[in-house]
Amino acid sequence: MIGRLNHIAIAVRDIGAATAVYRDTLGAKVTSAVEQPAHGVTTVFVELPNTKIELLEPLGDDSPINKFLERNTDGGIHHLCYEVEDILAARDKLVAGGARVLGDGEPKTGAHGKPVLFLHPKDFCGTLVELEQA
Ligand code: CO
Repeated sequence: MIGRLNHIAIAVRDIGAATAVYRDTLGAKVTSAVEQPAHGVTTVFVELPNTKIELLEPLGDDSPINKFLERNTDGGIHHLCYEVEDILAARDKLVAGGARVLGDGEPKTGAHGKPVLFLHPKDFCGTLVELEQA
């Protein structure tokens, strides 16, 4: 069902500093920072030849990554994003198998303008999983 690894997301406290690490220290190509108010984060994408790294900084007091950064004070890997051909079919199959979808269970528009869903980490080896329509 899952296809390509679309990105690995890393939550950070300071997206400017994190961008500099990837751009200057590691020599990667990075996008400019974009505020995503609907998701409570500011994002930068690091573009690698075979996948992307999504840097996430909290945006606002209700940011969904605030709690993660309270537990992981240096930041850390927050989620993996896999591509699926049909996000509604994938969701229905996973829910029928007992997996939990976060939020109201309906896809939202993600950072790439495509529908995304998040799956409960307890059902996926302790890792928050994002599905993105390919
Ligand atoms: Co993501």
